[in-house]
Amino acid sequence: MEDVSDAAFRRLCREMGADAVVTEFISSEALIRQVAKSWNKTRFGEAERPIGIQIFGHDEQAMREAARLIETVSPDWLDINYGCPVSKVVCKGAGAGILRDIDRMEYLTRQIVEATSLPVTVKTRLGWDASSIRIIEVAHRLQAVGIAALAVHARTRADGYTGSARWEWIGHLKADPTLTIPIIGNGDIFDAPTAYHLYHTYRPDALMIGRAAIGYPWIFQEIKYFFRTQQTLPPPSLPERLETIRRHLQYGLTMLPQPPEKTVIEMRKHYSGYFRGIPNGKSYRLQLMTARTPDELLSELDHIERYASVTA
Ligand SMILES: Cc1cc2nc3c(=O)[nH]c(=O)nc-3n(C[C@H](O)[C@H](O)[C@H](O)COP(=O)(O)O)c2cc1C
Repeated sequence: MEDVSDAAFRRLCREMGADAVVTEFISSEALIRQVAKSWNKTRFGEAERPIGIQIFGHDEQAMREAARLIETVSPDWLDINYGCPVSKVVCKGAGAGILRDIDRMEYLTRQIVEATSLPVTVKTRLGWDASSIRIIEVAHRLQAVGIAALAVHARTRADGYTGSARWEWIGHLKADPTLTIPIIGNGDIFDAPTAYHLYHTYRPDALMIGRAAIGYPWIFQEIKYFFRTQQTLPPPSLPERLETIRRHLQYGLTMLPQPPEKTVIEMRKHYSGYFRGIPNGKSYRLQLMTARTPDELLSELDHIERYASVTA
């Protein structure tokens, strides 16, 4: 996820049960222009493996070249983003924009598969809008081109994030015996019982979690525990949450090639997740938002811990 799935967060997710992780999407054009900020996004630690690097773009030369260059950092696979609904991406025919031109999607994917020796996966949506859901055809055509797996956010581009993910389409894909590539189901998995229900109803080969993991990497272990026992794990305690924020910060400081203050700012988008459902959660979050340096953040975390132990 853009501005979320950095190396620190991915490592945390792997440690807490995610079986595989993917980078945020990276512009193929920026990669071939050697933009440092974009190349920084391709960096990962060994503890994150298996990891895919995701690229997006509309220009076939740039996509081919980026796919070739990505080999130098040796991810486990290369993922193509055909799902981003954001207008500035879509209007150029990148991201979900390509869902309006399936011939082009097939052609571009073939170019990329041929350009790299890495396994290539695709992340997409069901179609452009409700009247043009072509995911079954897309899956067949991309399978024929040689992709290794297909991840589907079960909404159309027109849906954005509204309504509910249309998981029945994941079921339709899995019911087709001639589709043999793994189908990864994605959309609206916010807790372990939902993951269990969707998995057993629609039988995807894997589940992909997005928003539920932001500030709540425990989601992965909760899902795995539920699959084993059909029981819900108790939510993490406040001290556990604070310790995880410290670990998150530590990973960020050691792994991200940027000033420490930037790492502290970037952690802010995780705080509402870290404190969701916790008494005083909102005030803890606001307290952490005031921190600008790692020391300030650590001292706020200590402060919250002391305050909570006194008032408990
Ligand atoms: C802040 C944010 C950034 C995202 N960035 C990406 C991205 O870079 N690449 C991608 O394939 N999907 C991206 N997504 C979409 C998610 O991967 C996922 O498909 C979508 O949120 C639905 O899954 P969920 O209901 O589990 O969140 C992003 C989503 C959010 C909320």
